[in-house]
Amino acid sequence: MTSNHSPKTSNTRSCLAVVLAAGEGTRMKSEKPKVLHHVANRSLLGHVLATLTEAGATQAAVVIGPDREDVEKEALKILPGARIFVQRERLGTGHAVLSAREALAEGSDDVIVAYADTPLVTIETFAKLRAPLSDGAAVVAMAFEARDPTGYGRLITDGDQLLAIREHKDASAAERAITLCNGGLMAIRGDVALSLLERIGNSNAKGEYYLTDIVEIAREAGHRAAIAIVPEEEVHGVNDRAQLAAAERMIQVRLREKALAAGVTLVAPETTFLSHDTRLGQDVLVEPHVVFGPGVTVEAGAVIHSFSYLEGARIAAGAVIGPYARLRPGASVGPKAKVGNFVELKNTELGAGAKVNHLTYLGDASVGAGANIGAGAITCNYDGYNKYRTEIGEGAFVGSNSSLVAPISIGAGAYVGSGSVVTENVPADALALGRGRQVVKEGWAANFRSKARAAKGK
Ligand code: UD1
Ligand code: CA
Repeated sequence: MTSNHSPKTSNTRSCLAVVLAAGEGTRMKSEKPKVLHHVANRSLLGHVLATLTEAGATQAAVVIGPDREDVEKEALKILPGARIFVQRERLGTGHAVLSAREALAEGSDDVIVAYADTPLVTIETFAKLRAPLSDGAAVVAMAFEARDPTGYGRLITDGDQLLAIREHKDASAAERAITLCNGGLMAIRGDVALSLLERIGNSNAKGEYYLTDIVEIAREAGHRAAIAIVPEEEVHGVNDRAQLAAAERMIQVRLREKALAAGVTLVAPETTFLSHDTRLGQDVLVEPHVVFGPGVTVEAGAVIHSFSYLEGARIAAGAVIGPYARLRPGASVGPKAKVGNFVELKNTELGAGAKVNHLTYLGDASVGAGANIGAGAITCNYDGYNKYRTEIGEGAFVGSNSSLVAPISIGAGAYVGSGSVVTENVPADALALGRGRQVVKEGWAANFRSKARAAKGK
């Protein structure tokens, strides 16, 4: 199985993650706060909190803007133990971190500051950022070589020592020529974090409390500051919809690479869309143009044909899905079962080897092993108020174009004649017919035509 989860780091130091999620996000032009927008079917905030947890954060403090119950709710959904702090005024990154003063004061070995709008930072990078702390550094900045450094803080270094971070607006022409930039995230030694943060002032070009000033403050106090160099991709922040789409693109590339490396065939990987939690077993074959919504597990050797859309579904080994299948939450397809074109399953279990090959809707149903559901069969599971279940036994045969009006059960081995509207339970091995009996009138058509012609004078 592949998933987006790697084992926890072996680092045993306690670590408080302070996640800045107070971003205004006005450039998103959205009713929704920026950090609640999704990539790979999880919020930006969710990605950052999940990655931090996997990287060994033992506590999380999430700093949100005023009146942002929605952001608080999402943080607690992902990490029920997270502590929420409100930054009442946006006075800069240093001020934002200090909003979590209470959590900082409780002390931890390490502190990591992360941005909720920067979702591509990996577990490995968080580990790399923390590593120098155990060798005695007080502050570690995330560094990258910028193709275009405009707008970023510049890193002023001497060998492997970090001397200062100069914000673009405050930098001299010589400093602006530096291309080694600050990615924004930082690791700070827990025993000195609060006292260093409290010394940050706001006399600079923006009149903000810059978190980045902590580097010079630490050095003045006799501490060492270091850098951890990361690929530029990881620094990618989301401020507008184009950057959101770029983040999605990059995350999809990573998810596809992970699936391929785990022995999954993606015939055209650039057309496969995965979720952060998609789990694909070895030798799964995914044809071009398949979308995996959240919560899908596909076991070994299953085949997903083109143009299928799956969410909240479990597909057992050797099953065959699509083309053009839609599996909705609660769909569970048994081993070697078949779900063919234009078939929708919702909250429905298909037993081993069962076949639903064409043009069918099954909702709130269970289908026994080896049953065959004919083309166009439909479960009528909803009366406008409530949902009802349909139970179909092992080896049953439901004829084409049947309507199964739930609640209803079709016994094992029973047959339902094509075109039936089934409203009463069918015992095992019985035949149910729920349709008008066919009437044949010999010669009727010829007779009709000659009368009609005579009436028209032809
Ligand atoms: C920051 C860094 C800069 C770095 C850049 C990388 C500082 C002073 N500068 O600059 O060196 O190159 O990130 O992207 O830290 N935030 C709050 N409350 C605030 C201010 C910011 O929560 O009062 C959050 C923002 O929502 C964002 C993050 O902190 O998630 C960074 O803030 P932003 O204003 O984007 O910082 P930059 O000016 O880009
Ligand atoms: Ca920024």
